[in-house]
Amino acid sequence: MSGEFEPKIVVIACHWCTYQAINLAGTSRMKYPPNVRTIRVMCSGRTDPQFVIEAFRNGADGVLVAGCHPGDCHYVNGNMKTMRRTVLLEKMLEQMGIEKGRFRREWISAAEAKKWVDVVTEMVDQIKKLGPLKLAGRGDE
Ligand code: FES
Repeated sequence: MSGEFEPKIVVIACHWCTYQAINLAGTSRMKYPPNVRTIRVMCSGRTDPQFVIEAFRNGADGVLVAGCHPGDCHYVNGNMKTMRRTVLLEKMLEQMGIEKGRFRREWISAAEAKKWVDVVTEMVDQIKKLGPLKLAGRGDE
C-alpha cells in the first residue's frame, strides 16, 4: 500500500455497449485501474440524475455514465435522453461545488475495450489530481 489517494469511481454502464466493452477488456486481459464500481443498466437513458448525486453523496469521488454511441441505442433514443439530462446535471453538479472532471459522459461501443481502458485511466488520473471529493453532508468529512 502506497498511501496514495485512490479515488472511488462509480460507472453506470449500458448493458448493450459499454458493459460489453468492459467485459471485452477483461477477457482480453487489458489492464485498467481497479478504482471502478460498475452498475449495469439496460440503457444509459435509465440513469436518473439522482443516481449520480446519490453516488457522490455516498462516497464516490467520480461518476461516469456511459452508453452506446448516438444512433446505436438499442432503445432508439435513450442515449439522447442521457445527453440532455446530463448537460443539465453538469450545471447542477457545478452549483453543488463538484468540480468538472468528476463527472463524465462517454459513448463506448461493445467493441471499444481500448476506449474504455483509456477513458477510465484518464478519469482516475484526473481525479487523483483533484483529490478526495469534499461535499457537505457526506459521512467521510
Ligand atoms: S441501449 Fe445503450 S445507451 Fe441505450
